[in-house]
Amino acid sequence: MGWWLSRALWLSALAVVAAGAQAQQLSPGFYNATCPALQAVVRRGVARAVRREPRMGASILRLFFHDCFVNGCDASVLLDDVPGNFTGEKNSGPNANSLRGYEVIDAIKAQVEASCNATVSCADILALAARDAVNLLGGPSWTVPLGRRDARNTSMNAANTNLPPPDASLSTLLSMFRAKGLDARDLTALSGAHTVGQARCAVFRSHIYNDTATNATFAADLRANVCPFTGGDANLAPLDPQAPNAFDNGYFRDLVARRVLLRSDQALYGSGGGNGTTDALVRAYAANGTAFAADFAAAMVRMGSLVGSGGEVRLNCRRVN
Ligand code: HEM
Ligand SMILES: *[C@@H]1O[C@H](CO)[C@@H](O)[C@H](O)[C@H]1NC(C)=O
Ligand SMILES: *[C@@H]1O[C@H](CO)[C@@H](O)[C@H](O)[C@H]1NC(C)=O
Ligand SMILES: *[C@@H]1O[C@H](CO)[C@@H](O)[C@H](O)[C@H]1NC(C)=O
Ligand SMILES: *[C@@H]1O[C@H](CO)[C@@H](O)[C@H](O)[C@H]1NC(C)=O
Ligand SMILES: *[C@@H]1O[C@H](CO)[C@@H](O)[C@H](O)[C@H]1NC(C)=O
Ligand SMILES: *[C@@H]1O[C@H](CO)[C@@H](O)[C@H](O)[C@H]1NC(C)=O
Ligand SMILES: *[C@@H]1O[C@H](CO)[C@@H](O)[C@H](O)[C@H]1NC(C)=O
Ligand SMILES: *[C@@H]1O[C@H](CO)[C@@H](O)[C@H](O)[C@H]1NC(C)=O
Repeated sequence: MGWWLSRALWLSALAVVAAGAQAQQLSPGFYNATCPALQAVVRRGVARAVRREPRMGASILRLFFHDCFVNGCDASVLLDDVPGNFTGEKNSGPNANSLRGYEVIDAIKAQVEASCNATVSCADILALAARDAVNLLGGPSWTVPLGRRDARNTSMNAANTNLPPPDASLSTLLSMFRAKGLDARDLTALSGAHTVGQARCAVFRSHIYNDTATNATFAADLRANVCPFTGGDANLAPLDPQAPNAFDNGYFRDLVARRVLLRSDQALYGSGGGNGTTDALVRAYAANGTAFAADFAAAMVRMGSLVGSGGEVRLNCRRVN
């Protein structure tokens, strides 16, 4: 047997193992027969929410990231705590007083149930809603593979350990994404989500007070007007001040100008780490919004195929059946 053939057999064996480890096979037409109205219903629900409050598009996108990075995209993030029984992800460090959009997903789920009862998982609704949110803010669209199933358990600890912190170095970011099968290119493209939405003073204070490479005018303005050294923890600033609700490549120009809120953002550019890989990508995306849009869409599909071991289609996204 030639080396190439044994290598091919080995790779296909690995692929079978990987597929076997996945609970579900995803495909875009999964609900074609059982819920033909699905995509229109989800898009209408997201459009209504974004019209009411543009930031909600960003919030829904982040909800999907926080779902997928914790036990796979299984709607585990949507489970309410049940006092005395179950403590889930909502009150974890990264999510408490921060993650939002749960009511929007509830409203869409109710609409979906009205059209196709007990058929579509909350995890799939969230995957479609995140895609629509990006597109409604002016970003790309993409085909979403479907067929995820909803988790019956999760833990607060899983959220605390799987979600990257805002003071993460580049090597920490790379290894946390690598742990999900995502590479430096995925990390850089997906971080471009910070071209929309807002962050609290509490998470960017250390960057604007301590990181000297930050644009001095930018940091001084935030210190004076948004984020005092003590207090004001909940005060908000836009992650991309140039166009906070436009899904464009502005975030990458902010990185090059060193005008971003989070230390973990600036780590992608000019930190001297990563052998320049992320620096080169940041420059490429800053110069070419089309290249960013294409890579972002592809990376969202990869992140979205981190399936969990979920076993049901929840009737109410907040609790197990
Ligand atoms: C690379 C590591 C990442 C870190 C350390 C990080 C951290 C953060 C932090 C600290 C905030 C502000 C939270 C607050 O102030 O309450 C935030 C907001 C946000 N993040 Fe990330 N994030 C990362 C990657 C991502 C990814 C991959 C996505 C989506 C694909 C994403 C989407 C968002 C969005 C859209 C917001 C704004 C949400 C809103 O306005 O409600 N982030 N992120
Ligand atoms: C599902 O429907 C879409 C849109 O109508 C169509 O493009 C796709 O081919 C269908 N897929 C299957 C497997 O039927
Ligand atoms: C809570 O407890 C019940 C009874 O033991 C169990 O069936 C259920 O799965 C638990 N978890 C949640 C999230 O409700
Ligand atoms: C949907 O189906 C579930 C389970 O079959 C049932 O308990 C529920 O009452 C149904 N809801 C509606 C709105 O038909
Ligand atoms: C969920 O429950 C299963 C079976 O009890 C267990 O193997 C798994 O570790 C649990 N997952 C989490 C995140 O608690
Ligand atoms: C800045 O760094 C110093 C030294 O590490 C630390 O004591 C201080 O708390 C930091 N300030 C902020 C606002 O994070
Ligand atoms: C920092 O940003 C301001 C715009 O607010 C710009 O005028 C200035 O040149 C920048 N400083 C440096 C050192 O790039
Ligand atoms: C850095 O990147 C260059 C060019 O891609 C490569 O040749 C070199 O081996 C890399 N160095 C390290 C330490 O990874
Ligand atoms: C921008 O990126 C796209 C997609 O990769 C590519 O086709 C196009 O040629 C690039 N445009 C420029 C001006 O480099």
